[in-house]
Amino acid sequence: MKGIVFTEFLDLVESKFGLEMVDKIISQSELESGGAYTSIGTYRFSEMLQLLGNLSNNTGISTDNLLLVYGEHFFSVLEESYPGLLNTYTDPIELLASIENHIHVEVRKIYPKAELPTFIVEEKTKSSLILIYKSSRAMHHFGLGLMNKTFEYFNSTATIVLERTKKDGSEVKFIINKN
Ligand code: HEM
Repeated sequence: MKGIVFTEFLDLVESKFGLEMVDKIISQSELESGGAYTSIGTYRFSEMLQLLGNLSNNTGISTDNLLLVYGEHFFSVLEESYPGLLNTYTDPIELLASIENHIHVEVRKIYPKAELPTFIVEEKTKSSLILIYKSSRAMHHFGLGLMNKTFEYFNSTATIVLERTKKDGSEVKFIINKN
């Protein structure tokens, strides 16, 4: 997993819960990196799982809800870092339907080691989209947060229903309807 995902996560934890919480979740985890991340480095996904799990235990907030809020925050990081990629689009449905064959393809050119999910377009109309998410990392709620902000970016809103098609969260169906 790319370092930017860790550095932005810890920044958000600091702003929401304070520096003490950052220190606490780092010391409660067994991290090969020691908890020192650089945005351009690459680290094991298991480190993120431990940090998230410990934050969840300390705050009583589920990891899904933590990932949802983190996904919403991460969209602003993408907006700042990759405005050109987002500005290729004028419509949120078109953008979301193009993650797999355009957006994440470009991401892989920048970060060859990126660990990205698979998004399959199952159905698409002008105002609706059914996307199948597949990833061993089960970060579907991070995706949900990014989707919410994608609609906001285009001054729009949507109702998004998430159906777990595999119990472990490695496969999820997103049913997206523009309001
Ligand atoms: C992961 C870039 C848009 C869904 C990532 C990662 C990067 C990235 C750098 C981390 C990869 C790693 O740590 O190895 C981008 C850029 C985007 C974009 C530059 C647009 C400009 C989106 C959108 C979604 C999305 C709109 C909406 C669903 C995800 C998910 C992951 C991810 C769910 C977590 C990894 C996983 O589930 O396996 N993306 N992304 N991305 N991205 Fe994107």
